[in-house]
Amino acid sequence: MDKITVKICSGTSCFVMGAAQIQALEFTPPADIADKIDIIEVRCMNLCKDTHAKYNRGPFVTVDNELIEEATYEKVVTKIRDVLKNKECQ
Ligand code: FES
Repeated sequence: MDKITVKICSGTSCFVMGAAQIQALEFTPPADIADKIDIIEVRCMNLCKDTHAKYNRGPFVTVDNELIEEATYEKVVTKIRDVLKNKECQ
């Protein structure tokens, strides 16, 4: 099974809003997902600069291209487990 790609915005806005805590996934992921994810830190996704208020607030994270707004460590882990479950059903 392909690994799940997790992109964590490390731009200043997302970083100060909590992306730093989410980056812990890279070093201390839960054991059940540790070998199933690739963590990539990316520069500002420009979602924080959206002037049409389409997006809520950061930190922004994508899990296999599904966007998580106001991301937290727990939200990201839950999304990863959901994606894994869906992949296992296919
Ligand atoms: S700093 Fe994360 S979207 Fe801009």
